[in-house]
Amino acid sequence: MGTTAKKTVLITGCRRGIGRDAALALARRGHRVLATTHTAKAAAELGRLAAAERLPLESFKLDVTDTDDRERARDHDIDVLVNNAAVGISGSLVEVPLDLVRKSFEVNLLGPLALTQLVLRQMIGRDSGTVIFVSSLAGRITMPFMAPYTMTKFAISSGAETLRSELERLGSRVNVCLVEPGAYHTGFNQEMLAGKYTWMGRESYFRKLLAEIQAGEEKYFRRMEQRSTASIVRQVVRAAEVERPRMRYTAPWWQALGVRLMRAAGR
Ligand SMILES: NC(=O)c1ccc[n+]([C@@H]2O[C@H](COP(=O)([O-])OP(=O)(O)OC[C@H]3O[C@@H](n4cnc5c(N)ncnc54)[C@H](OP(=O)(O)O)[C@@H]3O)[C@@H](O)[C@H]2O)c1
Repeated sequence: MGTTAKKTVLITGCRRGIGRDAALALARRGHRVLATTHTAKAAAELGRLAAAERLPLESFKLDVTDTDDRERARDHDIDVLVNNAAVGISGSLVEVPLDLVRKSFEVNLLGPLALTQLVLRQMIGRDSGTVIFVSSLAGRITMPFMAPYTMTKFAISSGAETLRSELERLGSRVNVCLVEPGAYHTGFNQEMLAGKYTWMGRESYFRKLLAEIQAGEEKYFRRMEQRSTASIVRQVVRAAEVERPRMRYTAPWWQALGVRLMRAAGR
C-alpha cells in the first residue's frame, strides 16, 4: 500500500454491499478495520471470513440506533469513521405511515449523528481524523415515491457540509466528507422498492398506477445499477486515506454528471 499510513477505520453496516466491500478493501490495504454489523450473527460471519484471509479486520455488532452499541466505539482509537449503515424505506409521502419515516430518520440520520458526535470527541481532542458519511446521489435530486429514504440523505448531506464548516471555524484538522453512490446492485434498492407494497395497496391514492409505478422502477434500476461496487469502494478508500479529503466523492462518474446537469438545469 505504498507510503499511506495505516489507520484504524470503523465502518457501520458491513453485513454486505458497499460497507462490507469497503471494509475488506481497506483491510487488504493493511488498515485495521472495525467492520461493524447490525447483528451479532453477521459480525461472526464476517469475522470468520477475515480470519480465513488473515486480514486485520475485527467485526462486532453495532446497531447504530442502540446507545450501548454505539458506546463500544469508545474502546478504540478511531482515525476514520465511515457512516455507511442505512435502511431503504420508500413509498408515497402523501400516505406513508409516519412510524416508517421515523425509523428511516433514526437509522439513517440520528444514529449516525450520535455515533459521529461520540467519535468526534476523540478526534477533536487529538486534532486528527476523518468522518465519512455515505449519503447518495439521491441526496441531491428528488424522485417520486422515494422520499422516506431520500429525505434522510438530503439531511445527512447538509449535516456533513455543516459539520465540515463548523470544524473549520474551530481551526480543527478533523475532516468531514461525503461519499455519494449512484445506483449499485447490492439488494438494497430491490428491498427498498418492494417494501412499500406491503402498505401501499388497495387503499392507496395511487392504486390505479401501482403496476405502472412498479414496472417503471424495476426498469430504471435494471438500467442504472452497477453490478460491482468497485467504483464506489475506490472512492471510500480514497476519502479514508488522503490527508485532506474533498467535500464529495461520487461514482459512477456518469450518474454523478447526470445529477450535476439536472441541478444546473434547475432541478
Ligand atoms: N445500493 C445503492 O444503489 C446505493 C445508492 C446510494 C447510496 N447507497 C448507500 O450506501 C450505503 C450502503 O448501502 P448498500 O447498497 O451497500 O446496502 P446494504 O447492503 O443493504 O447495506 C446497508 C447495511 O446497513 C445495515 N443496517 C441497517 N440498519 C442498521 C442498523 N440499525 N444498525 C447498523 N447497521 C444497519 C444493514 O444490515 P442488515 O441488512 O443486517 O440490517 C446493511 O448491512 C447506505 O448508506 C445506502 O443508503 C446505496
